This record gives sequence, C-alpha cells and structure tokens, in this order.
Amino acid sequence: MSENTAAATTPTVTIATIGQHEGQVITLRGWLYNIRSSGKLLFPTFRDGTGTIQGIVPKAAVPEEVFETLKALQLESSVAVTGQVRADSRAPSGYELDVQNVEVISAVSADDPYPITLKEHGVDFLMEHRHLWLRSPRQSAILRVRATIMRAAAEYFDTNGFIRTDPPILTPNACEGTSELFEMDYFDDDKAYLTQSGQLYIEATALALGKVYSFGPTFRAEKSKTRRHLTEFWMIEPEVAHLELDGLMDLAEGFITHIVTRVLEQHRADLKVIGRDVEKLEAVIAPAATNGAEGASAPRNGFPRLSYDQAHDMLEKAFAEGKLENPHKYGDDFGSPDETYISSQFDKPVMVHRYPAAFKAFYMQPDPHDPTKALCVDVLAPQGYGEIIGGSQRIDSYDLLKQRIEEHHLPLDAFKWYLDLRKYGSVPHAGFGMGIERAVAWICGLDHVRETIPFARTLNRIYP
Ligand code: 4AD
Ligand code: MG
Repeated sequence: MSENTAAATTPTVTIATIGQHEGQVITLRGWLYNIRSSGKLLFPTFRDGTGTIQGIVPKAAVPEEVFETLKALQLESSVAVTGQVRADSRAPSGYELDVQNVEVISAVSADDPYPITLKEHGVDFLMEHRHLWLRSPRQSAILRVRATIMRAAAEYFDTNGFIRTDPPILTPNACEGTSELFEMDYFDDDKAYLTQSGQLYIEATALALGKVYSFGPTFRAEKSKTRRHLTEFWMIEPEVAHLELDGLMDLAEGFITHIVTRVLEQHRADLKVIGRDVEKLEAVIAPAATNGAEGASAPRNGFPRLSYDQAHDMLEKAFAEGKLENPHKYGDDFGSPDETYISSQFDKPVMVHRYPAAFKAFYMQPDPHDPTKALCVDVLAPQGYGEIIGGSQRIDSYDLLKQRIEEHHLPLDAFKWYLDLRKYGSVPHAGFGMGIERAVAWICGLDHVRETIPFARTLNRIYP
C-alpha cells in the first residue's frame, strides 16, 4: 500500500479515542516521543497531545523503507503513522499499534537533536525550555487538568445565576496593597497599574446585577520567591449583593466541591500520569459524617470552619506538644508551617475566618462582635498546599470605608467611585478570589506553581 492510499483510506483518530477502533487500521498524527529497538524489532512511542501509545515494528512485517525511516528518526519528529490497533492489557493506555506505515511530516535533524531527553533534567533547564517541556506527558496532563479546573470554575457560577463581568486590567489604583503593583506609563504623564484583583470593579457590577464573577489574569509585583507565588496568575472572583460571611463560606465550599468533582470525573488517567493520590481528592468531596461543627450553617460535605482564634489555639497546643518548631504569635498572620499544620489536621479544605483586621485589606467589614477582627475567610487546601481562596464581606458603610481609606493612606480621589457604591443603595455584600494556579498545584499535587501554567512568570523568569 503506498503512503497516500494508506492515509486516504484509513480513519485519522486520536490516541484518546483509539479504544473505539480496536482491530481496525487507523492513522495517527503525532510526534515520536521515544523509541527502543531490540534487533529486528522497533518499539516507537508516539504522542499526539491526547495521550501516548507504543507501536510495534517487526522488520519482517513492514516494507524495508518504513523500518529504516523509523529507525533513523529523531525524537519529536512529526509523523503520520498508520497501523492496526491491538488491545494489550500490559500497555499503559490498554492498546498498542502494529505499525504498517509512517509518513514523516517534519524530521528533526540528527545534528541538532531535541534538547529534552528522557533522562532527568534540572528544573532550570526545563524552565528554560518550557516551550518544549510542555510536550512531556506529565506537563500535558497538568495543562488538561488546568483547563478543566478553569472550565468547571466558570461553569459553577454560570449555572448558579452569576453574570460574568470583566473588570479592567489597566487600573488607576491599588486593590490589595500598593507595594505589589506593576506600574506603566499611560499617556500624558499619567500612570496605570496592572490589576491585582478585579474585586473593586465587580463590587460595582454586583450592585448592578446581583450575582457576578470575573475571571482573568492578575498581576502582583511581589518580591516573593516561594513555590506559591507567581507575578502573573489567573483569578476567578465571585461577588454577591446581600451576601454575608456564612453564605460566602457556603459558596466557596460548593464551588471547590464542584471543581474537584469534575476533575475526578474527567481526569483519572491524567491524575495517574501526574502521580496524584486520588483518594485524597475523593475525601474532599465525600459527604461528611456529621454536617460540620457549626450545624445548619455548614452545608453539603462540611468543610471545617475555624476562627483565627481557634486556629491560633490549635497552633499553640501543637507547639506545646513539640509538633511545631516555632510558636505562633497571637495577632500575627499565619506562616507557611502554621498553615501546613492547620490543614494537615483535616482531609477537607479548611476555612479560617475572622482574622485580625490589622493585617487584612482596607475594604473588609469588621466583625460586629469584635471589631478588631475582619469578616473574612481564607480557604487552606489540604496536605499543606496553603491558601487557595481569600475573601470577605465588604464594608458597606460610607463613613467607615472613607475612614479606612484614609487610615491606609490611599488617595481618596481615586476611590471616589468606589465610595459612591456606599452612597447609592449600599447593601451587605461579599466575595472571594481563587488563584487558578494554587488550585491546580493542590489538585494535581505539584510542589511548585511554576508547572501549573503554560508559561510561568516569576520574580526571576520572564523567558520564554
Ligand atoms: O487573597 P488575595 O490577595 O485576595 C484578593 O485579591 C481579593 N481581592 C479577592 C476577592 O475577595 N475578590 O488573592 C486571592 C487568591 C489567593 O487566595 C491565591 O489563591 C491567589 O489569589 N494568589 C496568588 N496566586 C499565585 N501567585 C500569587 N502571587 C498570588 N497571590 C494571590
Ligand atoms: Mg490572601
């Protein structure tokens, strides 16, 4: 059979759906991922973006030219391969391909071979070649899970009556604190800043539309070199009129449960490639034996809810028992080891609420029972993945908000429009933000957020 007739008469399929073609001769379009040879047998592995499959090429079973072409082919050359699909229970995908023909679309030169080999490379080398590293099965699997997390996150709001409203990316002022802003020139001596959060703007759209969300890139010029910080990341933020802190925690719980459910429905195979322990994810969505410590206000599967004070007591006890190296000072934010300890006490995400207002954002509503605390919540992912969600009820009093803006030395002029929201029909309202990359790191079980986004932007990397 000549190359052309083979391609013309066989269906072109993807590796993900190859099981539907058992016994048939099909064509795959992909890349040579790996090749082993054993005398008169070649075992090329192909990838096509949907998965990988091993081919078998006995010298005696194919035209000489096909054998020699494959034998000389460099990794990551692009190919169209034709062969018969055979079930094989030992194969990771459950199938193998008895190769009949190969058409080389673009051959990689042997003089300049693909730089990423199957041996271990250092992470700096891999990040320097991120544009190619993305092709590895593990990195591709992470990006597929990321896409589902983003889709499920938007889907949760789309199907629960939220309207997506897109805040600006170029803004005249800060949302989360002025030290973290990327500044740029904006015509005629003006300055603009890349947004850190769409929140202030979607408070306006929430008072127009009721339930809204935004979903887009956000930027933080944080000089933090940690495994949780990017300078550019994607955030999804709901904002709801007439919502208070308890309702906000219910919303966060339903939202996270939906995302994890979708990932488990759709990505068992990818999670296996990534090496994620799925039992830990199943525990997150499992119905709780008791419906949470706070009775009726804890819905669905009872993510634990702890006040800052309760969390502090837990840390104090742990320190006394020698389970923590350093004591937590009451009134301070939690450090990374503190968050890890708190989250490791539960198999579901923990909601820590009512932090001291002193180190939280200017817009947070004080707790009426203790105004030194803010009606806010951080959701800490299990297994030490840290904060994935931050949110709060917003100050709804004009006078108090104005006072806080002044106390934080923020320019009143720039916040005039934001204060208007408290002047014209103010209502209690609340919202949160979830960083997609933090969620991907937790759900995929990754050590570092740099692998959660196609091209990570960090303090020391902006290439490729
Ligand atoms: O806790 P943050 O700073 O909250 C806000 O921005 C609020 N305005 C959101 C709101 O209430 N609408 O950030 C929210 C989330 C964090 O919980 C974390 O998941 C993520 O954004 N995040 C980062 N992710 C990666 N790199 C960084 N540097 C991040 N900073 C925050
Ligand atoms: Mg936060």
